[in-house]
Amino acid sequence: MNVFGVDIGGSGIKGAPVNLERGDLAEPRHKVLTPHPATPDDVAGCVQEVVSHFGWSGPVGITFPGVVTGGITRTAANVDKGWIDVDARALLGERLGLPVTVLNDADAAGVAEMTFGAGAGRKGTVFLLTFGTGIGSALFIDGTLVPNTELGHLELNGHDAEKHASTKAKEDEDLSWQHWAHRVQKYLAHVEMLFSPELFIIGGGVSRKAEKFLPLIEGVRAEIVPAQLQNNAGIVGAAMAAAAPAP
Ligand code: BGC
Repeated sequence: MNVFGVDIGGSGIKGAPVNLERGDLAEPRHKVLTPHPATPDDVAGCVQEVVSHFGWSGPVGITFPGVVTGGITRTAANVDKGWIDVDARALLGERLGLPVTVLNDADAAGVAEMTFGAGAGRKGTVFLLTFGTGIGSALFIDGTLVPNTELGHLELNGHDAEKHASTKAKEDEDLSWQHWAHRVQKYLAHVEMLFSPELFIIGGGVSRKAEKFLPLIEGVRAEIVPAQLQNNAGIVGAAMAAAAPAP
C-alpha cells in the first residue's frame, strides 16, 4: 500500500508517496524551499504544492519541527511562532481536502528507522537524534515511541544544546568536523548520563557524512550508528503514522 508522506524542515518541504511494505519512496520526492518566515499559511501552501505535484488523493502524514499533541503544534523553535497552539491537523487537512496526520519530525524519522533502518529489531532504550537546523530526539523503549521528548533543548555548557551542536551551529560558526564532533560527543555523553541508552542512531542530512565525524566520537558507552534511511526517514515515518494514526 502507498501513503503520502511530507517532511517540513527548516530549509525544505519535501514529500512523496511511500511504499509501506518496503519503507521506501514509491516515486522520487518533490521539494520546495521553506518560506521565510515559515508561517502556518505559507507552509500550508507549500505542503499543498508538494502533494498536488503527484495528484495525490488519500491519507497524508506530515512532520513538523516542534511538539505536536493531538494534531496541535505546541512549539516553534525554528519556524514562525504563529504555529504555537495551531490546530495543524485541521489547517492542513482543510487545505488539502484529505485526511491528515501531523507528528514531530524526529519521532517520524525514528519510527521509520526502528522499522526499516538502523533500529529494526532493537530492544531496550534507543534514541534517534537528528542533527540539522535543530536537534530532534525520538526515544524508544523496546520499540515503542515516547513522543515529543525534545532533548535538543537540554542545556549544554549553559546553552540550548541545539544552538551549540546542531549542523546549523557547525555551519554558522564554520566549525571543523573535529571541533563539531567534540560538541556532539559532549551532547551524547549528557544524554547518556540521563538515560543510559543501548543505541544512538544519528539522523538528519549529516548522517550521509557519518564517516567524517562518528569515528571522532569517543568515551560514549552506547553503540552509535548512522541512520540508514537518511533524509527520507521523515517522509517514510510520516506516511507510516498516517496509515496508523494515533487517537
Ligand atoms: C524542535 C524539535 C524538532 C527539532 C528538529 C527542535 O528545535 O524543538 O521539535 O524535532 O528541532 O527539527
